[in-house]
Amino acid sequence: MSEPASLIIANKSVELPVKAGSIGPSVIDIAKLYGQTGMFTYDPGFTSTASCESAITYIDGDEGVLLYRGFPIEQLAEHGDFLETCYLLLFGELPTAAQKADFDYRITRHTMVHEQMMRFFQGFRRDAHPMAVMVASVGALSAFYHDSIDISDPQQRMVASMRMIAKIPTLAAMAYKYSIGQPFIYPQNDLDYTANFLRMCFAVPCEDYKVNPVLSRALDRIFILHADHEQNASTSTVRLAGSSGANPFACIAAGVACLWGPAHGGANEAALKMLQEIGTVDRIPHFIARAKDKNDPFRLMGFGHRVYKNYDPRAKIMQKTTHEVLNELGIKDDPLLDVAIELERIALHDEYFIEKKLYPNIDFYSGITLKAMGFPTSMFTVLFALARTVGWIAQWKEMIEDPSQRIGRPRQLYTGSPRREYVSVNQR
Ligand code: SDX
Repeated sequence: MSEPASLIIANKSVELPVKAGSIGPSVIDIAKLYGQTGMFTYDPGFTSTASCESAITYIDGDEGVLLYRGFPIEQLAEHGDFLETCYLLLFGELPTAAQKADFDYRITRHTMVHEQMMRFFQGFRRDAHPMAVMVASVGALSAFYHDSIDISDPQQRMVASMRMIAKIPTLAAMAYKYSIGQPFIYPQNDLDYTANFLRMCFAVPCEDYKVNPVLSRALDRIFILHADHEQNASTSTVRLAGSSGANPFACIAAGVACLWGPAHGGANEAALKMLQEIGTVDRIPHFIARAKDKNDPFRLMGFGHRVYKNYDPRAKIMQKTTHEVLNELGIKDDPLLDVAIELERIALHDEYFIEKKLYPNIDFYSGITLKAMGFPTSMFTVLFALARTVGWIAQWKEMIEDPSQRIGRPRQLYTGSPRREYVSVNQR
């Protein structure tokens, strides 16, 4: 244990324990602060507040470092595949060849959803946003899988975790197919996870579909980049929902709902729409000026980050993947990519963005890549949710298995009316 921190309040000194992690900032344990001082701390956006202990993901925002269980994201993206990353995030170690084969086999054989889910989908309008469909259908899984929602049973927790990771691509593909009025395509067990997903999205029953291995590898890498990111808004939502004992499917549905926001996972959809609105390189200065104007709510979507005050390491890999995909598809000059590259160049040399340490984040380039692959803009955040499901599950599992885990219940700074007496309506 490190030297305690001393806090002086109203001439009274309070000692608070300091806990050090394995790497990164230490924390001041304020659990007893209210009891000792009658005061709460105040940090609405949790900019300086650690909500939990975790051994899963580490981010150094100043250095632009991202580690999954200690392994740099660049190495995992380069050498591994998404299911290997899922194993790593869930169990803490890279799998042996035998462990990987067993894990892939078990995930593959849980990719089908209950046949009644087809009828569940029929209730939506065809033009429903796919994220609305995902929130509903992920939550609905707890209506189909009663045999794996007792979170006190480790076996049921593992079954629910495997089912969630295995079925999320199927639900995502179904949401896409339903939105374009095409029949659902069943998973095919002789394909790997991401190739299976691409086939469920783009195959039709009328002919054979061959998955492009370059695109499949690129999308698999994109899933690795999106898999986890410590205590971001949607992961914190999953943890808070899970702290009440809610079943894992309901917790993940809560995470999907939170991710949808344009300040979070919805930024990939918003970033592409912004690039389309800018349209041409000559219009960039106008939008940069709007982004800097305090009276204009416009922000450069895909720029800035609560933690990264340096380049998001995922954005660099994303940019490289974008060029790979466009080359594979023979797209020589994508005007959106031209705008994105020029916008990044200008922003990174602009005093405002330098001073506020605003760099492209993972959402800046992903939309261009996904659009080139054939996904509509409305599906971009669905793909983010697909990949982040393993991170949500791993963080939920870690929380449930933490013996010190309690229900999350923040306090507040009350600024409303003091006690006052009821006034009958004829006296008002
Ligand atoms: C993700 O948390 C995670 O890890 C998230 C994520 C994950 O993997 O889970 O990484 C995924 O959500 C990435 C972020 C995607 N969102 C966007 O790209 C939306 C655009 N970015 C912003 O809305 C913003 O940067 C946030 C939401 C990402 C971060 O918000 P913060 O940390 O609360 O910072 P802030 O809004 O207080 O901004 C700090 C300053 C402000 O200026 P001042 O009030 O200090 O004068 O920077 C300015 C902001 O106005 N600013 C921007 C800007 N982002 C911040 N100005 C113009 N354009 C922007 N994009």
